[in-house]
Amino acid sequence: MRCLAVSAKIPWVIKYRPKTLSDYVDQEDAKNTIINWLKRFPSVDKKAVLLHGPPGVGKTTLVECLAHDLRYDLIEMNASDFRRSKDINRVAIKSADKISLAGRGKLILLDEVDGIYEKVDAGSVEAILELIKNTKFPVIMTANDPWSNQLRELRENVLMIELKRLGKKEILEILRKICSSEKIHCSDDALNYIYELSNGDLRSAINDLQSVAEGFGRVDLDLAKAILRRRDRELDPFETLRNIFGARYAWQAKITISQSNLDRDMLIQWLNENLPRQIQDPEDLWRAYDALAKATVYLSRIIRTGDWDLLSYAIDLMGPGVSFSIKNIEKDKWRWVKYNFPEKIRELSRTREQRELINSIASIIAAREHISRNKARTEVLPYLRIIFQNNPDEAAKIVLGLGLSDNMVKLLAPEKSGEILKRVKEYQKLIREEASREGEKKEKRKTVEKKTVEKREEKKTQATGLDKWWKK
Ligand SMILES: Nc1ncnc2c1ncn2[C@@H]1O[C@H](COP(=O)(O)OP(=O)(O)O)[C@@H](O)[C@H]1O
Ligand SMILES: [Mg+2]
Repeated sequence: MRCLAVSAKIPWVIKYRPKTLSDYVDQEDAKNTIINWLKRFPSVDKKAVLLHGPPGVGKTTLVECLAHDLRYDLIEMNASDFRRSKDINRVAIKSADKISLAGRGKLILLDEVDGIYEKVDAGSVEAILELIKNTKFPVIMTANDPWSNQLRELRENVLMIELKRLGKKEILEILRKICSSEKIHCSDDALNYIYELSNGDLRSAINDLQSVAEGFGRVDLDLAKAILRRRDRELDPFETLRNIFGARYAWQAKITISQSNLDRDMLIQWLNENLPRQIQDPEDLWRAYDALAKATVYLSRIIRTGDWDLLSYAIDLMGPGVSFSIKNIEKDKWRWVKYNFPEKIRELSRTREQRELINSIASIIAAREHISRNKARTEVLPYLRIIFQNNPDEAAKIVLGLGLSDNMVKLLAPEKSGEILKRVKEYQKLIREEASREGEKKEKRKTVEKKTVEKREEKKTQATGLDKWWKK
């Protein structure tokens, strides 16, 4: 277990990322083709390689291992860096001065070139082509999907090399190695299950293995099924945060948001709560909060104006905006932290009943005073609270006048509610007594009236003299 706690600090895809070709399993064809091409460089047909294959098969890792073993300085750029053609030109210029200080050659890596979107990145494909034409150093590009239209010209100018999905044997071998380094017991059927889910994507297989192992210290089939079935659907809040913070590329942070089971507002709350846990450097933290605040502004504008075009800005800010805020202490991106449920949400759900009560009081006042509920809440309620806390007698009259419930009284004056409700009872008693006195009076008045009517009738008959006649 001790071992687990230590290893859990860093994602295993990073911890167990091969550094040298001897650790890099399989992919012999691709490896050899690239090594031959590098050795012949610059006497080669094409001065660039496009290494393609599905996500997680080891494209980036292979280039890094090659650079390490063949002693190149790796100049690495990713899609968000080469958005603008001038950045590519900058690399081209940099690569033009022949050797680096250590006397080593350079290898230029343009990672994830299929992250270039035609509309946004007009000019960047041309700039890459220009770089390939003029480069003195080998250029290797990677892409998940090299067959898109905008890469057509690029394809014609590079040596295409495919990385195949790793086979079952290789993936299981890598997973077992990790388990034994972590001193974790892993059953064969659980590893098979993880392999089946991964569909040859080693990155997701290693991530899945870590998710199961980390919580329980062992990997068996039942656990793997219980944990990973959920993961198949969507990302829970913890995975969402981890993926946003750890994103290497903007698109990874954006995809995370779309796969998360948190809606945008909840995600803002989760980030708000956990930024200071993940980010230690004050300047990084400031940048992250700044991005988050701007995302909130866009989200509220969307609600106000219904302008959904703004959503992409909000997502850019809360996803990549947050993850790329971490600059000064880069390892913070992957630091393992325990995330917290947002206090605000916890508080809101705890106080939901209270808020509903406040709304009901505001509605009563609003109807009575012909003002808006909002005005009742912000302008009348505070005075009501003061009266309730200081003048139980007056409060009792208001309670009766507005017909407030006991719970409403408790909310308005938690400490004085007992006293107020006692007064209310007294007043109610008085009112009842008053009412019954009134009733009695009414009864009396009725009998008196009855008698007067009878007398009047009597007088009338007397007046006509008939009574005398009758008596006779
Ligand atoms: N051939 C391999 N041998 C050992 N580990 C590998 C291999 N290929 C990939 N990996 C592991 O899978 C992870 C993902 O590889 P990565 O190079 O980032 O994939 P890609 O760039 O194709 O998306 C790496 O962190 C590494 O741990
Ligand atoms: Mg990669």
